Amino acid sequence: MINVRCSDCGAEADPLAMCACGGCPEFVLGAVRLDPAGLRRVVRERRMSYEPLFASGVWRWQELLPAIPREHIVSLGEGNVPLYNSAAGARYAGVDRLAYLHLGMNPTGSFKDLGMTVAISAAKASGAKAVVCASTGNTASSMAAYAARAGLDAFAIVPRGRVSDAKLAQMREYGAQLIEVDGSFDDAFSNLNLVDGAAVVNSINAYRIEGQKCAAFAILEARGWSVPDWVVLPGGNLGNISALAKGFREAKRLGLIDKLPRLGLVRAARGVDTEASAIAVGAPKSLNRAHKALRDFDGLELAIGDDAILAAKGQIGREGIGCEPASAASLAGIRVLRQAQNDAGGVSGEADVVAVLTGHILKDARGAYVAA
Ligand code: F0G
Repeated sequence: MINVRCSDCGAEADPLAMCACGGCPEFVLGAVRLDPAGLRRVVRERRMSYEPLFASGVWRWQELLPAIPREHIVSLGEGNVPLYNSAAGARYAGVDRLAYLHLGMNPTGSFKDLGMTVAISAAKASGAKAVVCASTGNTASSMAAYAARAGLDAFAIVPRGRVSDAKLAQMREYGAQLIEVDGSFDDAFSNLNLVDGAAVVNSINAYRIEGQKCAAFAILEARGWSVPDWVVLPGGNLGNISALAKGFREAKRLGLIDKLPRLGLVRAARGVDTEASAIAVGAPKSLNRAHKALRDFDGLELAIGDDAILAAKGQIGREGIGCEPASAASLAGIRVLRQAQNDAGGVSGEADVVAVLTGHILKDARGAYVAA
């Protein structure tokens, strides 16, 4: 039996649609028959196996995911991303220890793949013929690839002139139909009904969150289950912070960890006009659940200017790592939170921090080569 509830009002909810109250649907994790040691062992064994499904860093966690029959699962081997320790990044931000979880090293170059494998598999299992999303580019590229693998039609509604060429090229190459609308991401989102009868795979789709929560497990697994002081990430529509929070909450509930990290959410001060086009979102659909996550995780939210984002991008580039502009907001944000330490209970100099890099450097060439 599937148990899906609204993140805001708690009412039973449809996993594919927002609740009438404006909240988002979320799966409620049921009983898990494995104890923490058993779960860690099973996941480790799967990582070493040659079963194609377990080449996925998402499906290795299948006990914690919605049940989808194996024959419907569409995976591109997502979720196996590096956690790079960075002494230079730590110095740049002014903290003792910093590592980048590089979710740009996923099959289509962004963190969206973790959620999309689950959302597209669920759509296929339900007999859907088509999927649709509104996007600043990454959701749509990911949807296009997974839909192509699944044999589903894909429709991408994007803000005209505001999506990087690389992301548009991905959508076209994977065979999605592009619908460009005037305005911003928010306008694209309000035009989702342009496509009739397709399953929506934006992060209001509860299956997306289930896949993306595995990024929390990836951080913990790579650190031998030691909890960092802070996890800092860029925010746009705010699905990803909701997903990471869900992953950490569940890891704690299952006894995999005994405390939660603090969360830092970094948004673009220029809103829908930021150069960091991936996070150019004015009215995030997951605002309430993101704010709840910030309360529960003693988190902080900040808005940051494009200059600081691009300077941090240059730093990450010079480390030989690289990321798209929106992703660099996490490093820029840590630097600001570190400086704001005394006023706001921000990041201390001794902090052990994970910065989430959400997209690959080749996703968006603008803003590259910025001098230090
Ligand atoms: N970083 C990148 C590279 C993104 O593409 C996005 C969102 C975010 C961060 C923010 O994540 O929306 O879950 O808060 N991109 C969406 C898209 C809006 O359409 O690709 P979020």
